[in-house]
Amino acid sequence: MIRVAVAGAAGRMGATTCDAVAGADDLEMTGRADPALDTAVADVLGDADVLVDFTQPDQAVANARAAVGAGVHVVIGTTGFDPGALEGLHGANVFIAPNFAIGAVLMMRFAAEASRHMARAEIVELHNDRKLDAPSGTAARTAELMHGDVPIHSVRLPGLVAHQEVILGDVGQTLTIRHDSIDRVSFMPGVLLAVRRVGGLDRSPVVGLEHLLS
Ligand SMILES: NC(=O)c1ccc[n+]([C@@H]2O[C@H](COP(=O)([O-])OP(=O)(O)OC[C@H]3O[C@@H](n4cnc5c(N)ncnc54)[C@H](O)[C@@H]3O)[C@@H](O)[C@H]2O)c1
Repeated sequence: MIRVAVAGAAGRMGATTCDAVAGADDLEMTGRADPALDTAVADVLGDADVLVDFTQPDQAVANARAAVGAGVHVVIGTTGFDPGALEGLHGANVFIAPNFAIGAVLMMRFAAEASRHMARAEIVELHNDRKLDAPSGTAARTAELMHGDVPIHSVRLPGLVAHQEVILGDVGQTLTIRHDSIDRVSFMPGVLLAVRRVGGLDRSPVVGLEHLLS
């Protein structure tokens, strides 16, 4: 059994993660940290093998440092912080993914491939209006993987979950690659895969779900 604690447990992603962990036979839910639950991350580290962080950009680094310091592996889904801040930590592993949905990982791969053959591209990312960071971590990562300079446009509206269109243009044609997460459960298979694999990583931090997919 892998013992799992969740930081941001009262939030939208954190609560969905708690349900997914509780529903997995090989995982045990041991702690729910969130100011809204009056429980600090430090209070849940003693009983955990892995901490999953879905909090906010200005909190994720301190949470991860505290976990690694306590020998607890960390899976971070929070976006909008610099992963470089987690280089060179010792004692436990860190895995970070700007997007845990398999369809989004494929979108990034296809966009990277297409950008080598089409003249120009732009990204339109659309998220819920309560998302704190812009551009999204997924859009930034997609642009990083693509050839050339790729502008990003951010849309924030109620009703949206997580959506992205990569539009590529060339003489007389366009190609659009689109991914939609219409429910937060879309992220859960990727989160649980990362929880199961983070302890066995041969380097840290590792950024991107693609590194866990064969
Ligand atoms: N990687 C992915 O696949 C993916 C998917 C969706 C969202 N996200 C990201 O996940 C993060 C959370 O999104 P959300 O929609 O669940 O936000 P949310 O606002 O619903 O939840 C965040 C929760 O974190 C709590 N929190 C704040 N500081 C904390 C701390 N120091 N310790 C413990 N808990 C703390 C808040 O009280 C809140 O309950 C965002 O950065 C978002 O961009 C990532």
